[in-house]
Amino acid sequence: MEQAQESRPLLLLGAGGHAKVLLSLAQALGHEVAGICDPLLARQGAREWRGVRVLGGDEALAALDPASVGLVNGIGQMVGSCLRHRLFVSLVEKGFYFPVLVHPAAWVDATARLGVGVQVMAGAVIQADAVIGANSIINTRAAIDHDCRLGENVHVAPGATLCGNVVVGDQAFIAAGATVIQGISVGAGAVVGAGAVLVRDLGERQTIIGHPVRKRPGPAE
Ligand SMILES: CC(C)(COP(=O)(O)OP(=O)(O)OC[C@H]1O[C@@H](n2cnc3c(N)ncnc32)[C@H](O)[C@@H]1OP(=O)(O)O)[C@@H](O)C(=O)NCCC(=O)NCCS
Repeated sequence: MEQAQESRPLLLLGAGGHAKVLLSLAQALGHEVAGICDPLLARQGAREWRGVRVLGGDEALAALDPASVGLVNGIGQMVGSCLRHRLFVSLVEKGFYFPVLVHPAAWVDATARLGVGVQVMAGAVIQADAVIGANSIINTRAAIDHDCRLGENVHVAPGATLCGNVVVGDQAFIAAGATVIQGISVGAGAVVGAGAVLVRDLGERQTIIGHPVRKRPGPAE
C-alpha cells in the first residue's frame, strides 16, 4: 500500500464538495494543508477558503518544487467527467506526488493494496486482498469486499457495495447505493446507476439503471 508522506505539506486542488470532504479528511489525519489551487477562487480574488490560503489557479503549481509538497485531487468524479483523471495524469508527469488518504473512521485491511492518490472516505470498508488502482475514490460508507480488483480512476460512490472478487475496469463509476454481487466484472468506463443491483457482467462503457424485483421459487431444502 502506498503510504501518505506525512512530512510534506499538502496542497488541495479544487474547491467543490469533494474538496471540502478531503480537507476535513486531511485535517482529521493531522496533515498540514498549506494551500489550495482553484481557478474560480483565483478569478474571484479570494485569499482564503475554509481557513486555507488560496495560492491561485493550477498555474500556481509551476512555481513549486514538486518534491516539496503532496497534492490532494479535490476534483470530484461524476459520470462522464474526465477532469479529475486528466489533472492527475498531467501533474504526475510533472513529478508531483499524490499520497493515499484514508479517513481514520474507515477500515482498510492490512493486506489490501491502494495505488497512489487513492482516497478512502469516512465509514468505507476495504477487505482482505482487495486492490484499488491509482486516483480512485472509495467514497463515504462504500464497501469493497475481499479480493476485489479495481482499476485506475474508479469511483465507488457513497454507500455502494462490491461483494467479494468483483473486477472493475479503469474509469468505471459505481453510483451511490449500488450493489454488485460476488465474482462480477464491470468493464472500463461502465456505469452502475444509483441503487442498481448488478448480477451479470457489464461490458465496457455500458450503463445500467434500476432493479425491478421478481418472485421466484426459494432455494431447495
Ligand atoms: C446512472 C445515472 C448517471 C443516470 O442519470 P441520467 O442519465 O442523468 O438519467 P436521467 O436523470 O436523465 O433519467 C433518465 C431516466 O432514467 C431514470 N433513472 C435515472 N437514474 C436512475 C436510477 N439510478 N435508477 C432508476 N431509474 C433511473 C429516470 O427516472 C428517468 O426516467 P424517465 O425517463 O422515465 O423519467 C444516475 O442514475 C446516477 O447513478 N448518477 C450518479 C449518482 C451518484 O452516485 N452520485 C454520487 C456522487 S458522489
